Amino acid sequence: MERTFLMVKPDGVQRNLIGKIIERFEQKGFQLIGAKFMHISNELAQNHYQEHVEKPFFTELVDFITSGPVFAMVWQGEDVIAKSRLMMGKTNPMEAMPGTIRGDFATVKSKNVIHGSDGAESAAREIALFFKEEELITYQKNI
Ligand code: CMP
Repeated sequence: MERTFLMVKPDGVQRNLIGKIIERFEQKGFQLIGAKFMHISNELAQNHYQEHVEKPFFTELVDFITSGPVFAMVWQGEDVIAKSRLMMGKTNPMEAMPGTIRGDFATVKSKNVIHGSDGAESAAREIALFFKEEELITYQKNI
């Protein structure tokens, strides 16, 4: 079963959007197999965003993601990586369609409420950064 890493960012947590975001993925039919309410250390943030290290907004990105608690999750389901990105909407919330998470809840790129892995490789890397394999749930049977 495919897995992805999703994270409600500090703006989403502060705006009490954790429940609404979880609800969307549950309603879609994906399964939550891991969750952590946590602060991200500077080291973890640098690691997580390593592909953006050369970008002009890298410092802003690290400062923001470490500015308050995040809600880190692992979800599983068929095509969950691509489908969850569709549900999140475009990175720039002003271009994200209504009905998507960013389209409905966010206005600026730097505070776009949720992060989601953009491919199989980043999903595996990000899951391993935030979770030990034994912290992830195995469901006995599918409903
Ligand atoms: P995320 O999916 O967490 O991955 C990288 C993040 O960089 C992205 O969401 C945006 O929040 C952020 N980002 C992208 N472009 C910009 C930008 N031009 N200025 C600030 N932040 C940005």
